[in-house]
Amino acid sequence: CGICGVVGHQNATPLIVEALRRLEYRGYDSAGIASLVDGQIARRRAAGKLDNLQAVLDVQPLSGTTAIGHTRWATHGLPNESNAHPHAAGRVAVVHNGIIENYEELRAEMIAAGRVFTSETDTEAVAQLADFYLDQGLTPREAASRTLARLQGAYALAIIFSDHEGLMIGARHGAPLAVGFGEGEMFLGSDSLALAPLARRIAYLDDGDWCVLRPDGVEFFDASNQRVQRPIQTVALIAGTVGKDGYRHYMEKELHEHPVVIGQTLQRIIDPVTRAINLPEFPFDVADVPRAIVTACGSAFYAGLVARYWLEAEARLPVDIDVASELRYRDPPLVPGGLALMISQSGETADTLAALRALRQRGQHIVSILNVEASTMGRESDVVLGMVAGPEISVASTKAFTAQLSVLAVLTIAIGQARKTITEKRAGDMLAALLDLPSRAAEVFSRLSDIQSMAASVAEARDVLYLGRGVCFPVALEGALKLKEISYIHAEAYAAGEMKHGPISLIDRDVPIVVIAPSTILFDKTLSNIQEAKARGGRIMAFTDEKGAQRLSGIAEHMVILPDVDPFVAPILYTIPVQILAYEVALRRGTDVDQPRNLAKSVTVE
Ligand code: G6P
Repeated sequence: CGICGVVGHQNATPLIVEALRRLEYRGYDSAGIASLVDGQIARRRAAGKLDNLQAVLDVQPLSGTTAIGHTRWATHGLPNESNAHPHAAGRVAVVHNGIIENYEELRAEMIAAGRVFTSETDTEAVAQLADFYLDQGLTPREAASRTLARLQGAYALAIIFSDHEGLMIGARHGAPLAVGFGEGEMFLGSDSLALAPLARRIAYLDDGDWCVLRPDGVEFFDASNQRVQRPIQTVALIAGTVGKDGYRHYMEKELHEHPVVIGQTLQRIIDPVTRAINLPEFPFDVADVPRAIVTACGSAFYAGLVARYWLEAEARLPVDIDVASELRYRDPPLVPGGLALMISQSGETADTLAALRALRQRGQHIVSILNVEASTMGRESDVVLGMVAGPEISVASTKAFTAQLSVLAVLTIAIGQARKTITEKRAGDMLAALLDLPSRAAEVFSRLSDIQSMAASVAEARDVLYLGRGVCFPVALEGALKLKEISYIHAEAYAAGEMKHGPISLIDRDVPIVVIAPSTILFDKTLSNIQEAKARGGRIMAFTDEKGAQRLSGIAEHMVILPDVDPFVAPILYTIPVQILAYEVALRRGTDVDQPRNLAKSVTVE
């Protein structure tokens, strides 16, 4: 979820709607605004996307200069209007990002005190509790502080009170919250993206902090209610909503940005003339790290899986990897001084952030690969390796994935050189292959009609199997995930050699089998697996190169023939057509490509 707030002198609603538009990547199950109109709380809420809320506002405009807003990714309660934030009780309205873990207990206590709840959410308990304390004669500030002391779980909150124009209370516990400084107006927001167009000067609350906002400034308090100062940073201005540049969807535009993004990302860390690697300074020696532990969620996790193959094979570094939600609770034995690689487009994903903190506590060096470098993860890392992917608006990740792989590839070479497992000659070849990638990536788009005919077949299917081996197995995983996310067709990916141990029983004429098969040393093995599928009536759809195509002709029903590249960079190149396939299938299925149902771009709850 994303939250924002304004206390100022102008009509707050348009500012809140624009901030919510920049926060919609955190969820779009519902949206809402509450403001003070003549001192009283007025709310507008709508299920579904922000556009639905805008439609409500068009009919019933909302005035007021003290207002809070929310865009929701549902945790407790259906994504309908009554569960939409802001939640209100008596004289209090609240927006919340996170989960109040003890809400059942608080709710029972409030119901026993005679209070009536109107939603199924955990958040309403916060509003009820604060209003309950107001009833006992406490001031808003006292009531908020008493309420916060009762809450367990993770939250970022913004609270307003009837008859208290120009007052807002914010609180942060496990979920990020920032304050923006304007001229005679102050802002609250889940991240700098929400605030940057409103205010150039931003201060982040520390974990456990709460704050009191007034149009002319802010007071910060720490978890023990001591008055504290928090540093103010100046952030770059970000233009309003980024456009689609004539493409039908953000996803289509972002797919076309692959070549540029790979190029920009590489240019920042490789000198194109001398081919020297220019990574930021590490406060430790990478040659000495005993092992690496890699973690992430979703597509970023698959980028991590590719990195495991690279770091093991090329840098001879032992690698453990797991999804962040598992790693966090796994408690693996770790030697202090290990390298923890965190991968995240947004830098805000709650699971990855929690894993980062757990790994830091266990004495690991935190190196994060992020697109949003000013994110919470960015601020909590020892080293940030930035991808230069630009804003990724489509919920399904595309260009961020190849940018992550580009950074991880360079990091692999740097670590391999430091550990003397990669010769200068080999490093030169690897870097040359990387620098050649933007051009090869651009060539992929000349294969669009082949991808489209493959998509026409896949769009008819109910289930699809993706296969790959070695570094191409994570590409198969990414392909299956993308297809599921945006076309709602069930897909699974298997390491091609593992197919015979289970999923082979699924194969029949109706299940297309998408194979990622560049002609690397694993090609013959993959071909055997393809033959096993073919022998059982499977319809083969192959992504391969010229050499592979010769071997696959007569076997594959559809082929997309990609440019020849060094096998080291093949997973980066092959990801592009595999993602385009998912997009083309989704177009044929008529789904909401940029904002698929139930998903959020960055899930900020555990
Ligand atoms: C969500 C998105 C995925 C994304 C994952 C990690 O679940 O739906 O597409 O890969 O979060 O996001 P991050 O911002 O941490 O890369």
